[in-house]
Amino acid sequence: MNNSQLKESITTLINSDNTVSKKLQVICDLLKQEIEYYDWVGFYFKNGDKLELKLAEFAGEPTEHTIIPFGKGICGQVALSNQNFIVPDVEAQDNYISCGFKVKSEIVIPIFVNGKNIGQIDIDSHIVNPFTKNDKLLLEFVCKKVSGLLL
Ligand code: SME
Repeated sequence: MNNSQLKESITTLINSDNTVSKKLQVICDLLKQEIEYYDWVGFYFKNGDKLELKLAEFAGEPTEHTIIPFGKGICGQVALSNQNFIVPDVEAQDNYISCGFKVKSEIVIPIFVNGKNIGQIDIDSHIVNPFTKNDKLLLEFVCKKVSGLLL
């Protein structure tokens, strides 16, 4: 599937009759399956009133990092910065939480609901520097759609 087909599938899924959790799971599964360099795809959300992220749905190897304090790792930094974070090579990052030696790069895009950063989509790849503007655009689209589900 190319990006526009993926966007179409995601829109159909978002508008379907499934639970939010099921929709998020299918988005993770679809992205991981369709984009060969997406080796782990997951959603983290703010954990209630706590200044931490909690892992929600994901596709790929289970991770022990199910709770990430704000400020820690790439995910925790995005929780505070409200900015996309593309890491072409994780070895060049000091504030990085490793989810396994195979992971070489990462992209994290925040999800906003009513202007508030409430979570993010996080993708790990086993290759160095795979992410382009197309990934950013596709994942921003996904985050906007997910935001609509959470309104
Ligand atoms: N690498 C992330 C931790 C989460 S895992 O990639 C699933 C980080 O540095 O925040």
